Amino acid sequence: MFDSLNALLSQAISAIEAAGDLNSLAEAELRFLGRKGELTGAMRGISSVPAEERPRVGQLLNEIRQKLEGEIAKKRAAMSAAEISARYEREAVDVTRPGRIPHEGGFHPLTIVVREILDIFGRLGFEVAEGREVELEYYNFEALNIPADHPARDMQDTFYIAPGTVLRTHTSPVQVRVMEAIRPPVRIVAPGKVYRCDSDVTHSPMFHQVEGLLIDKGITFADLKGVLGAFVREFYGPNIAMRLRPSFFPFTEPSAEVDIQCVLCSGKGCRVCKNTGWLEVLGSGQVDPAVFGYVGYDPEEVSGFAFGLGVERLAMLRYGLDDIRLFYENDIRFLSHFK
Ligand code: FA5
Repeated sequence: MFDSLNALLSQAISAIEAAGDLNSLAEAELRFLGRKGELTGAMRGISSVPAEERPRVGQLLNEIRQKLEGEIAKKRAAMSAAEISARYEREAVDVTRPGRIPHEGGFHPLTIVVREILDIFGRLGFEVAEGREVELEYYNFEALNIPADHPARDMQDTFYIAPGTVLRTHTSPVQVRVMEAIRPPVRIVAPGKVYRCDSDVTHSPMFHQVEGLLIDKGITFADLKGVLGAFVREFYGPNIAMRLRPSFFPFTEPSAEVDIQCVLCSGKGCRVCKNTGWLEVLGSGQVDPAVFGYVGYDPEEVSGFAFGLGVERLAMLRYGLDDIRLFYENDIRFLSHFK
């Protein structure tokens, strides 16, 4: 009897020692001390032990029980402590490590340039007007004195959306929409996207223009030259030379393209200016009286000028870039130069 109880004790001790986690420790406890456990069974069987041996057997059973309870409690406490410190280690935060620096965004170079253009014209008294990118052929061409059979329609390869509806090829239709809506004086700039079937290092199928329109009594070509000169000096600095070159647009008469001295070679001649020393930045002219006819303005009473700036062209010269496609690739290495 004593031998089998001592064997039970050593079995229980090894089961407790072998328990690798709290669950297997609980299993060992159930196996020996639970209601149907092996030691509990032995205690129930005490009635069948001869009366003279009962006190000693009973005492041994109690000792075994106390010993096992003690061992289990000790092991459970040690395991809980180990688990808590392992968790602390897993979840520890090293407050001395450097923080993650959030990525700082910036404006796209074209946004920067458009804002600067609008700011300069704002200071000259121009208000911002908006047009539509999907435009009626009437506004994009006809009301600008470009009838259907006019060869000027071929100068701008057009994306048609539906018969009579185009992706606007320039911002000039905004001129017509504004003149239809308000009476003179008019003094607006209209920024926006325009579309042409055109693509190489200096031409993109989608690009940006800023249109300008000033109509009032007695506006002359000298005013056009004065305003554009003020803009160019503000945008590129006071020492940049500008020249007006005779040109043709069906909606302006006379018309002029404006060149600036090449900012990359200071007019000496280089690859970008094709060795001419000059770069074209915009088209302009005195509004043709025929356009006034479409919007009900009296050309005897008012006159004015209009211009259309190529935003990408201005931005390329400002930043010394020789490929327009850089603006649309969204390469973060390129964009991060413009913060
Ligand atoms: C026009 O679009 C006229 N509407 C400008 C105008 C307005 C004249 C008002 C008179 C009065 P043009 O097609 O030249 O003109 O374009 C104007 C500018 O847009 C050009 O000087 C050039 O800088 C830019 N541009 C033209 N085509 C492209 C293109 N495919 N990609 C990028 N920029 C372009």
